[in-house]
Amino acid sequence: MQDIFGHLPDGTPVTRFTLRNPLGTEVDLMTYGAAIVACRTRDRDGCLGDIALGFSDLDSYVNHSAYFGAVVGRYANRIANARFSIDGQTYTLAANDGPHHLHGGRRGFDKHVWNATAFEHEERRRVTFFRVSPDMEEGYPGHLAVQVQYTLTDGDELVVDYAANTDAPTAVNLTQHTYFNLAQESAVDVLDHRVQINASAFTLVTEGLIPTGDIVPVEGTAFDLRAETAIREAIDQPHEQLRLARGYDHNFVLDRTGEGLVLAARLLEPTTGRTLEVSTTEPGLQFYTGNFLDSTLRGRSGRPYPRRSGLCLETQHFPDSPNRSAFPSTILRPGKTLITQTVFRFGVRRDAHVPPFPRIALFRAS
Ligand code: GLA
Repeated sequence: MQDIFGHLPDGTPVTRFTLRNPLGTEVDLMTYGAAIVACRTRDRDGCLGDIALGFSDLDSYVNHSAYFGAVVGRYANRIANARFSIDGQTYTLAANDGPHHLHGGRRGFDKHVWNATAFEHEERRRVTFFRVSPDMEEGYPGHLAVQVQYTLTDGDELVVDYAANTDAPTAVNLTQHTYFNLAQESAVDVLDHRVQINASAFTLVTEGLIPTGDIVPVEGTAFDLRAETAIREAIDQPHEQLRLARGYDHNFVLDRTGEGLVLAARLLEPTTGRTLEVSTTEPGLQFYTGNFLDSTLRGRSGRPYPRRSGLCLETQHFPDSPNRSAFPSTILRPGKTLITQTVFRFGVRRDAHVPPFPRIALFRAS
């Protein structure tokens, strides 16, 4: 199913697609930012609820920069001092986060209309988005052709396949920036979610959330989320890194033994029983707890989004990799095709602990 979500100020139409599987899961996507606009999944009682933060109208997506649901590029996350070099040639990028470069610059991939084709055949339904980022867009060298394909399977998985190639050496790091709240998009916060991240280390950051280059073990710290942990219990621990970012906004170095898909994170929301599993071929996961949300943006349901009302599980390479030769490389060269995959798997856990009703004093009949 498809319709027109809205028009840009210059009249360009933005198409919205709805993918629906036999379980009733529905994912709305749009050509603006190749973004996930809504994601309706079942809770443990079978009731559908929208678990992705977003706006009800296109203008809000155009006018705000929270990256709700968008594909982020050409380089997701930060590049220190908005500068990097390839083969001795230095490139200056748009500085849109203080002196640093964030999420592709002033007008990143989230702020463009992509071409799209939809395909539906029995158990496969998908939308493929495509755009060519011109040479020197936001300062990056080379024309970059990018394809992002979303497939909703009968097994309740949203598979995101990324492919890119270039005509000149360039830096690329693509991610999906959906903010999830498994209780429902309009719920107050995500603090009761239980999270598990399969990472024994993370990249330490300094002011401006720029990596120092150190990869440090999580063991014994608030960053040790290898066992299921309620976010509320971990996020306010007195840890210098949590203070710097006002919560989690860090790149976790995923535990993997080889290439291919690896389980990166699991999420459980106890009141609804909804679960989300994220698997990826990428080496890192930026876990971001919506620390910059501050109630100024009003979501689809009409309610403002306060701090920590959504969380992102952004599969990607490490921040500032173009300036860090010890990090896995993000340089793409002509003749090579970048291929990555991330899988979001929706589910429910029936045995999840349901918090008790608030205690109230009962009057006894005398
Ligand atoms: C990412 C970053 C955050 C913030 C959000 C968007 O997750 O790591 O610091 O910029 O995007 O607000």
